[in-house]
Amino acid sequence: MPRTQYYVAQSLDGYIAEIDGGLDWLLRYDGEAGSDVSQATEGEYDRFFAQVGAIVMGSATYEFVLAEEQDRWPYVGTPCWVLTSRELPVPDGADVRFASGPVAPVHEQLRAAAGERNVWIVGGGGLASDFADAGLLDELLLTVVPVVLGDGLPAFARRLGQRLRLTGTRAFSNGMTELRYDVVR
Ligand SMILES: NC(=O)c1ccc[n+]([C@@H]2O[C@H](COP(=O)([O-])OP(=O)(O)OC[C@H]3O[C@@H](n4cnc5c(N)ncnc54)[C@H](OP(=O)(O)O)[C@@H]3O)[C@@H](O)[C@H]2O)c1
Repeated sequence: MPRTQYYVAQSLDGYIAEIDGGLDWLLRYDGEAGSDVSQATEGEYDRFFAQVGAIVMGSATYEFVLAEEQDRWPYVGTPCWVLTSRELPVPDGADVRFASGPVAPVHEQLRAAAGERNVWIVGGGGLASDFADAGLLDELLLTVVPVVLGDGLPAFARRLGQRLRLTGTRAFSNGMTELRYDVVR
C-alpha cells in the first residue's frame, strides 16, 4: 500500500533547522560512530526517493531548496506541491504546483499523482503537523543527527495526537540513526 511519509533529518534535540532556517549542521555534518556500527548511508536517500511518487513542502523549505541548489531543481520528474500564499518562481524543468489552505484537498491530489508510490512530506514542522492533525500521516522516518543545536525549528509544530509504533532502527557509520515509526490510528 502506498503511504504518506514524513522523512526528515533532525538534531538530537528535535530541530530540523536553525531559527534562521540554516542547515549547515546537517549539510556539512561530518561524524563517525564506533567500529561496531558499519552501515553506510550511501544510497539510502536514492532508495527512499525511488519509492516516492509525489512530494509536498512549505514555502520556506521550497525557497531554501531553490537557494541551496542554485535553481537546479533536484526533483525532476516528480510532481511537487508547494503550500504558499505567495507567488513564487519555478525553476526550469520543475513540475511545481502551488496550493494554499487546508491540506486534505492537497493530499487527494498528491495521492492521485503518486499512484502506487508514496507521498513524501518534506517539511517543515507546521506542514507535518497539519497532515498529522488531518489524520493523513502514515509513517515517520526520522534520521537523528548527533548534533545539539539548543534552539531551532522543530520537527513538529504541535503535539502529535496519535501514538507511534516503532517499526525499525538503523545505526549508520557516520553516527546518524534512522528511526521508523508507523502512525497508529
Ligand atoms: N532537516 C530536514 O530534513 C529539513 C526538512 C525540511 C525542511 N527543512 C528546513 O526547515 C525549515 C522549515 O521552515 P518552516 O518551518 O518555516 O516551514 P515551511 O513549511 O517550509 O514553510 C512555512 C511557510 O509555508 C507557507 N504555508 C505553509 N502551509 C500553508 C498553507 N496551508 N497554506 C498557505 N501557505 C502555507 C507559509 O508561508 P507563505 O504563505 O508566506 O508562503 C508558511 O509560513 C527550512 O529552513 C527548511 O530548509 C529541513
